[in-house]
Amino acid sequence: MSIGIFYGTTTGNTGDIAVKVQEFFGTDDCALFDVKDNALSQCSDYDQLIFAIPTWDYGEVQEDWLEIWDEVDQIDFSGKTVAFIGLGDQYGYAEWFVDAMGMLHDKIVARGAGIVGHWPNQGYEFDESKALSKDGKYFIGLPLDEDCQREQTEDRLTEWCSQVMVEFASA
Ligand SMILES: Cc1cc2nc3c(=O)[nH]c(=O)nc-3n(C[C@H](O)[C@H](O)[C@H](O)COP(=O)(O)O)c2cc1C
Repeated sequence: MSIGIFYGTTTGNTGDIAVKVQEFFGTDDCALFDVKDNALSQCSDYDQLIFAIPTWDYGEVQEDWLEIWDEVDQIDFSGKTVAFIGLGDQYGYAEWFVDAMGMLHDKIVARGAGIVGHWPNQGYEFDESKALSKDGKYFIGLPLDEDCQREQTEDRLTEWCSQVMVEFASA
């Protein structure tokens, strides 16, 4: 299995999570790319991809992802399997919780990707999120909240990575 993790981070939280995900899958099988320093086109080298993105400024995309936002639409994701991690703050920004993850998901689905790594919406307190499924019953990826629920991150991440490993293998 060869996995590419692409992430952007402003204050380091998403970067720390991306390193943990790489440790889970193993450095031999999983490569890490900060989108600030690496061309997004490199994701063409991987059939399995994990995109990690925090939400900033009331429902906006993190600044490094914003720089390459239009490039996402140039990439053909057909035949690729993609999973998402979204960082956010559910109490401070309850109306926009992990919105950027949902926005990135919608672009990548439109470019033909198959999506894995759905996650239950229980255990979070928020008002609205663009990262919910159309029926609102689950998140389209894994929301992590280092501001308000940091103590749950390790368990959530381990369970989600285990799930995604199985889903990648059977995709
Ligand atoms: C000014 C500011 C605006 C934010 N806006 C949102 C938001 O709209 N939605 C959300 O879920 N989280 C929001 N957050 C929380 C960040 O997404 C969270 O702190 C995240 O862990 C930052 O990730 P990073 O360190 O990788 O940049 C905001 C945080 C700050 C400081």
